[in-house]
Amino acid sequence: MIYPELFKSLEAVRWNMAADIPWDDFDASKLSDDQANTIKMNAITEWSALPATEMFLRDNRHDSDFSAFISVWFFEEQKHSLVLMEYLRRFRPELVPTEEELHRIRFEFDPAPALETLMLHFCGEIRLNHWYRCAADWHTEPVIKAIYRTISQDEARHAGAYLRYMRRALGGGEQGGLQARAAFAKMGVLMASVQRKGGALHPTNIHVNKSMFPNDTVQSRLPEPDWLEHWLDHQIRFDDAWEQKVSGRILHNLSLLLGETFASVQDLSRYRKAVTRVLRGPGDALGTGSGLVPA
Ligand SMILES: [Fe+2]
Ligand SMILES: [Fe+2]
Repeated sequence: MIYPELFKSLEAVRWNMAADIPWDDFDASKLSDDQANTIKMNAITEWSALPATEMFLRDNRHDSDFSAFISVWFFEEQKHSLVLMEYLRRFRPELVPTEEELHRIRFEFDPAPALETLMLHFCGEIRLNHWYRCAADWHTEPVIKAIYRTISQDEARHAGAYLRYMRRALGGGEQGGLQARAAFAKMGVLMASVQRKGGALHPTNIHVNKSMFPNDTVQSRLPEPDWLEHWLDHQIRFDDAWEQKVSGRILHNLSLLLGETFASVQDLSRYRKAVTRVLRGPGDALGTGSGLVPA
């Protein structure tokens, strides 16, 4: 079981909302209305850990170790939402999300292959770590800069935790290991691709419920469904240099995990095709697709 060790290591570095956020440093002159509004959107987006947790627990009934870890992940993600809301409550109370706004992003996700979802979230945590670091640079008010830096570090640790479960999956026998490799490579190609015009690649921006299409991404259910692109392109300016960092981190970690050298997404794509060919022996159903489509 990985969960007991993860619990211990995450608890050892856990920050305290009252003591570790420098609330007294607030400088009202350094917070614009536009900046404050993005904090509201991020607070609601973080709340989507709730439907994601319901999805994880449903799709991982066979895996009590991972399900137990989700208790920690869920707690920390809800805390991210809460610290952003606490900032607004103190300094911009008119922007605190309503319970209805939070509840609106709680909807059912279609079942998806657990290993693909795992990889999707691993990449999502890496991406969010970079988004929040970029947001910390963009913000000018000291307290919110500190909050984004703090939660960005949690996101990096979450990626590390998912990576432990990915490594465990590789040890699941020859066939199980191959299926894990195929799933990780498939989602890695999607998530490491630098294609800014196609929409930001993050779990909250992926279509997850066919019956609700096109309003079946978390982002589409926010008070301002288009805010994410605006935030990335025109506010924090998450440019190609940042995108390359995200892609590089994903490829670097996958190289180490799979014991290959992926210098580019094309390398990973070739690897994916090779693994899929091996798997598509007689009677093997893998490669039928997960139904996950980027927005
Ligand atoms: Fe988070
Ligand atoms: Fe996270």
